[in-house]
Amino acid sequence: MTFDRSIKIAPSILSADFADFGREIEAVEAQGADWIHVDVMDGHFVPNLTFGPPAVKAFRKHVNTFMDVHLMIAPVDPYIEAYADAGADLLTAHVEAGPHIHRTLQAIRGAGMKAGVALNPGTPAEAVEHVLDLCDLVCVMTVNPGFGGQSFIDMTGKVRQLRAMIGDRPVHIEIDGGVTPQTAPLVVEAGADVLVAGSAVFKGGSVGNPAPYGENIRAIRVSCDTLV
Ligand code: DX5
Ligand code: ZN
Repeated sequence: MTFDRSIKIAPSILSADFADFGREIEAVEAQGADWIHVDVMDGHFVPNLTFGPPAVKAFRKHVNTFMDVHLMIAPVDPYIEAYADAGADLLTAHVEAGPHIHRTLQAIRGAGMKAGVALNPGTPAEAVEHVLDLCDLVCVMTVNPGFGGQSFIDMTGKVRQLRAMIGDRPVHIEIDGGVTPQTAPLVVEAGADVLVAGSAVFKGGSVGNPAPYGENIRAIRVSCDTLV
């Protein structure tokens, strides 16, 4: 399969109605989402708590696109099999979550998933330099992880550096945090191709009134159109 370099919008269900995940996922997919981004938090690696493998397995039944699971947990390794069983297409671990990111990425691929590695805003690009052959995606956090709706932290320099480091490897660059029609073009111009957006996608809509989800997704897409 050829590597898909087109811009992909990945709504984060952290901004969805927590009592109605199934219908929320179906609504954003019907409105043009390319991937579904699932934020797993443990109240330890980040100061917030969301859901674990049984919930993610339940979400899977509603995902017809691609389920992108972002682990903000430490440790990661004891849970890799559980997320494979839950049906994650791609599993992302933070480089800051433990001393053995190389082993973790091998284990994620070994469990049959695509592997992602995430970098907090304070972590330099070089932290992933020696694992680029073991991953399918590098996630550049443009907020400190833990909550939706925070302001974008400009990491375009880091994105540019990663794009150069990645070269012609089939590795996506994902941006997570504060993505809006105003900030998306900055990171796409720097080399990102996957845009996670929570509040900017879900604002103004609901499962009963999903059209705003589509308008919001299109607004982000159109903002980057002239660049790709
Ligand atoms: C933050 C999460 C993000 C978050 C993005 O810890 O990883 O995926 O939901 O939300 P917005 O787009 O609202 O910044
Ligand atoms: Zn995320």
